[in-house]
Amino acid sequence: MRPAKVTADIIRAMKARGEKIAALTAYDFPMTRLLDEVGIPFILVGDSLGMVVLGFPDTTHVTMADMEHHTRAAARAKPRALLVADMPYRSYETVADAVVNARRLVAAGAEAVKAEGGQEIIEQVRAIVAAGIPFCGHLGMLPQHVLEEGGYHVKGKKETEHLTLLADADALVAASAFAIVLELLAPPVAKEISRRIPLPTIGIGAGPDCDGQILVTPDLLGMLPWFSLKHVKPKLNAAEQMRAVIHEWRAGVSSGAV
Ligand code: KIV
Repeated sequence: MRPAKVTADIIRAMKARGEKIAALTAYDFPMTRLLDEVGIPFILVGDSLGMVVLGFPDTTHVTMADMEHHTRAAARAKPRALLVADMPYRSYETVADAVVNARRLVAAGAEAVKAEGGQEIIEQVRAIVAAGIPFCGHLGMLPQHVLEEGGYHVKGKKETEHLTLLADADALVAASAFAIVLELLAPPVAKEISRRIPLPTIGIGAGPDCDGQILVTPDLLGMLPWFSLKHVKPKLNAAEQMRAVIHEWRAGVSSGAV
C-alpha cells in the first residue's frame, strides 16, 4: 500500500515527533518522481530554477510564468511528498498580489508556497494562510535580495541581525506558517531559532541543529561543475559521468559502432 500523502500539517508534526526532515528541490517530472520514490517528504520547486535550469545569474529573473510551468511539470509526477513552490521575485509585493500569485501556483499544482522574508511580508503571509494555502517561511540570506546585498553572506552574526531574525521567526509562527527555511544562517542562531519555535526549521548552510535540511538537488548530485559552494559537497559527479557516457556514445557513432 502506498504511504499516506504528506501534508503541511504532517511536515509540521514531524518536529514534534523528533523526525528530521529531508527536503530537496525539483523542477520537472523525472526528478520529482525520483525524489518521491526515495521517500523525500518535502519537494520544493525552488526559484533556484533561475540559476540551475534557466541559466540566469540569480533568482531575480524568474517569473510567475516560469514557476507555473515548472510547478506543473513537477506536479505531473503526483508525488506523495508535499510539493511546495517558491513565490518568485516581486510576486508578493502587495497583499493582493501575494494571494493572486499564491493561488496561481496552487492552480499549477503546488500544495504550499514559500516566500522570502519575515515581519516585512507578514500581512502577505497572513492573507495567503487565510486563503487556505499552507505557507513556508524563508529567513537568513534571501537570494531575491542578492543584488542589494552584493552577494551571499552568512546572516545572524551581528546582534541586530540576530534579534531581527528571532522576531521574524516569531512573526512567522504567529502568522501560522508551517515551516521555515533558514538559509546561510550562523549555526548558533539557527540552533537558537530551532529550539525557540514550534515550527520545523529546514536549514541550508545553517549548521546541523535545524529540524531538517534542504539542498538544491543539482548541487547535491554534482550536475553543475562550473560552480562551487561552501555549504555543499556533491555526493556524485553526475556531470562528469554524463560527459563520459556522451563522449563514448559520440565516439561510437563516429566509428560506426553504434
Ligand atoms: O530556490 C531554492 O531552491 C530555495 C532553496 C535554496 C531553499 O529556496
